[in-house]
Parts: sequence; structure tokens; C-alpha cells
Amino acid sequence: LIGIFDSGLGGLTAVKQIRGLMPQEDLVYFGDTGRVPYGTKSRATIIQYAKQDVAFLQSKGVDAILVACGTVSTTALSVLQKQTKIPVVGVVEPACRAAVEATKSGSIAVLGTNATIRSGAFPDLLKDMQPSLRVYEQACPLFVPLVENGVTDKDDPIARLAVERYLNRFKDTDIDTVILGCTHYPLLSQVIADLLPGVTLINTGYEAAKVLCEGRSGNGTGTARYYVSDDPEMFIAAAGRFLGQDVKGQVSYVDIGAY
Ligand code: DGL
Repeated sequence: LIGIFDSGLGGLTAVKQIRGLMPQEDLVYFGDTGRVPYGTKSRATIIQYAKQDVAFLQSKGVDAILVACGTVSTTALSVLQKQTKIPVVGVVEPACRAAVEATKSGSIAVLGTNATIRSGAFPDLLKDMQPSLRVYEQACPLFVPLVENGVTDKDDPIARLAVERYLNRFKDTDIDTVILGCTHYPLLSQVIADLLPGVTLINTGYEAAKVLCEGRSGNGTGTARYYVSDDPEMFIAAAGRFLGQDVKGQVSYVDIGAY
């Protein structure tokens, strides 16, 4: 039984990947929809929330946890790993590995929330892996609200303007690989690819899901339960966009403050 959590909906992009890789695995997802976003909060608050999220998933009997949130992975992962006996996988290392493998020019851009960029976790690890890399960072705080509101179409002028605002500086450079360091951002892939043609986009949720699935047999019946800290109906309405599937009847409310 794998536990997955995110500050809200974005982690569902990782659920979709795990489903594809291991259809038989049983999953429990927690989305902290009552306290989202995490990306604008302080380090102390992010750590406090993440500890509660992990405690909740452990109370469900999970044997491994995927931190399907760029913000928590960059800000709280080592704290969570220290206090937990089961494997806790974040998105930073798998994404950095994939980026180092993908780049030919040696120039990589990292996109994320304010908290993720503040942490410096991606460039630190990329430079550890390959000191000669040139790493550029960009916080994209408008992306999460756009994705949550379904404004992701390649031809949507607002989506295009937001992508241009943050990524114009990467046009016509030798950057050939971009880490989408937030689990919401894959939904904007088409708009980003349009502005930066030929660039490899690293989907962090997908890379982390691959690492989590390594060495697992996926014995189960392929069930999924979803828990949220705000109205389940709102989650059900938006989840389809991330998951490509209806989750009606599988979502419950949890009082996360009690963990
Ligand atoms: N899930 C967060 C992340 O991947 C984005 C949303 C938030 O700021 O909480 O960084």
C-alpha cells in the first residue's frame, strides 16, 4: 500500500504515473486542500504540515510514501525521512538524475514555487551530481492558480502570457532541459513546449513515481482511496483534469489538524 501526498491536487499527476507503472498497487492519496498552497508559506509551517500529512498516511498502514509535492520535497524531505521508518521518496533526486541524463548542452532551468526556489535544493543537487552544469532558476507563482482553475490550454491567451512572463528569458539560450519542479506544472507542458521548442521537460512526479515503483511487485487489487482536508465535492470536480478519471465515491474528508 503506497501513500502519496501533496498540498492539494498536483500530486494526482504522480498518481496517474504510478497507476500506469503498477496497475495492481493499492494507493492512498492525501491532498491538503484545506491548507493549500504550501509554496507561499514559511519553512517551519511547511514542515509542520508535512509531518501531519505523513502521520495521517502512516495511520492508514502504508509501507512507502511518495512526497508528490515539489515544495515539501525541497523543504522538508530530510526531516520526514529522519522521523519515519518506511521509505519516503521525494521528487528532487529522481528529477535531477533525469535532467542530468537528458542535457547535452549542460544548461538546465528549474521552475518551482517560491518556497522551492528559496530552498536551492534543485541546483544544490544538480551541482553535486555534475559540477560543470549551468543551472538557472525561476519561481512561477502564477502557474498553480492557473492550473487549479483549468487555464492550461495551449491557445489560452492568459496561460501563454503567464508562461511568457516567466520563461521568455530562457528563449534562444542553450538551455535544453527544464525541470518542472512542481507537480502542477506538467499540465502546462504544451504551453511551455510551444515557447521553448525542442527543450526536454522533466516531469518530477513521473520520475519520482518510477523510483518508488522500482523493486516493488505491485501486489494488490488496484484500489485507490483519496482523502482531503476540505470539501470532497470540490476535489472530485477538479481531480478529473489531473487524473483523467472520475474519483466519485472514493474521496473522504479528514481533519488533518488532529494528526
Ligand atoms: N504542490 C505544490 C508543489 O508541487 C504546488 C502547490 C502549492 O504551492 O502548494 O510545489
